[in-house]
Amino acid sequence: MNAARAAALQYRRLDGAPNEPTGPVTTVTAVENGPLALRGDLVVRHGDGTHERLPRAALCRCGQSKNKPFCDNSHLEAGFQAAGATPAEILSEIAHPAKPVIPR
Ligand code: FES
Repeated sequence: MNAARAAALQYRRLDGAPNEPTGPVTTVTAVENGPLALRGDLVVRHGDGTHERLPRAALCRCGQSKNKPFCDNSHLEAGFQAAGATPAEILSEIAHPAKPVIPR
C-alpha cells in the first residue's frame, strides 16, 4: 500500500457504532510527488455543493484528478513532481503521531 492510500483509507461502520474517531488536531502533509494528506475533523465540500465529514482525506494538488477534490492517483500517470514527505515518513507519522505544538 502506498502512503497516499494509507493516509486516505477510511471505513464506515454499518452497525450504528461510532465511526473512526478524529484526531485532536488537523494536520496537512504534502506527499512527495502526490496529494495533500489531511487528518482531523474535516468537512469536505464537493463540486455539487454537498458536504462530507471525514477523519482523513487525500486532496489532489496536481490538478489531474477526475474525482476532485480527492486524489485518484492520476498524478502517477501525469508524472507530477513536487517536494513532500516520503512514504516512509508518512507511515511513521500514522504509527507515531506527533504531539501538537500550540503557539502562544
Ligand atoms: S495529486 Fe493525486 S491525482 Fe492529483
